[in-house]
Amino acid sequence: MSARDGLQNEKVLVPTDRKIALIDRLSACGFSRIEATSFVSARWVPQMADAAEVMAGIHRKAGIRYTALTPNLKGFEAACAAKADEVAIFGSASEAFSMANINCSISESLERFKPVIFAATEARIPVRGYISCVVACPYSGAVAPDAVARLARDFLAMGCVEISLGDTTGAGTPETVEAMLKAVLQEVPEQVVAGHYHDTNGLALDNIEASVALGISVFDAAAGGLGGCPYAPGAKGNVDTVAVNRLLTRLGYHTGLDAVLLSEAAAFARGLRAEI
Ligand code: HMG
Ligand code: MG
Repeated sequence: MSARDGLQNEKVLVPTDRKIALIDRLSACGFSRIEATSFVSARWVPQMADAAEVMAGIHRKAGIRYTALTPNLKGFEAACAAKADEVAIFGSASEAFSMANINCSISESLERFKPVIFAATEARIPVRGYISCVVACPYSGAVAPDAVARLARDFLAMGCVEISLGDTTGAGTPETVEAMLKAVLQEVPEQVVAGHYHDTNGLALDNIEASVALGISVFDAAAGGLGGCPYAPGAKGNVDTVAVNRLLTRLGYHTGLDAVLLSEAAAFARGLRAEI
């Protein structure tokens, strides 16, 4: 569950102390993992330039893994120095998005990720692998399920402990998400798969329900439904954590989250927009 995906796309910089206050509020909600920030180029994503300060300022709660995105070794080293409990590499099933987001092809990205995974493994830091554009690419249109499945297989073979499937543009429907997941599940077990659905077309919750039916039990969400991706023009926010908690509870799952504290954290997140 992320603060990062919500905050990276805000037009005006959210002050560091407000980011820290949001993460501290989320820490009280019962999460086992919070994606706090990303160690990326400040020229590419100025909103994340304070990654080290955010990691240093949060009040860590026992039992929570505070995670960060790391596109390359430079990012990993900074995340390691900032004591990230888990890191995430992020690739794409679409060549055009890979180029736009991390300035390299898919195969070049795999070469860049190898030393990150190697260093993380040495340091006993788990690595999550994000795959963007699992349904559609904002630049090149529909993405074939096989392209997603291939990358998921590569990430797992390289040592990722979890693969998060990103419907970056929010174009996915239960049908297209199901087709994509069925292809992915031919290559990797459902226990290592997470769903990361943006809510551009209001279908993220339906897509989660379709994923649950296929055995997926980990979902990313952003407090207050903030965010998007700076390199996916028009992509609306991530699915709102409050709505995901409500859905999963209604489906009979125990999320371990405090719904009242979560609503307060979501209101705080939305309020950040009004403040800046
Ligand atoms: P590049 O320009 O090819 O990299 O960018 P470079 O190696 O040539 O370096 C360029 C400059 O960046 C240099 O600085 C480096 O030192 C610096 P300069 O010499 O010009 O002053 N640099 C760094 N600085 C800090 N941390 C680093 C780092 N690496 C290089 N780690 C790069 C390649 C990957 C760095 C760049 O493209 C980048 O930072 N991209 C990040 C884009 C991003 O954060 N996108 C949003 C997150 S992904 C997402 O939202 C999708 C997701 O939510 C899932 C979904 O929804 O699909 C995960
Ligand atoms: Mg995202």
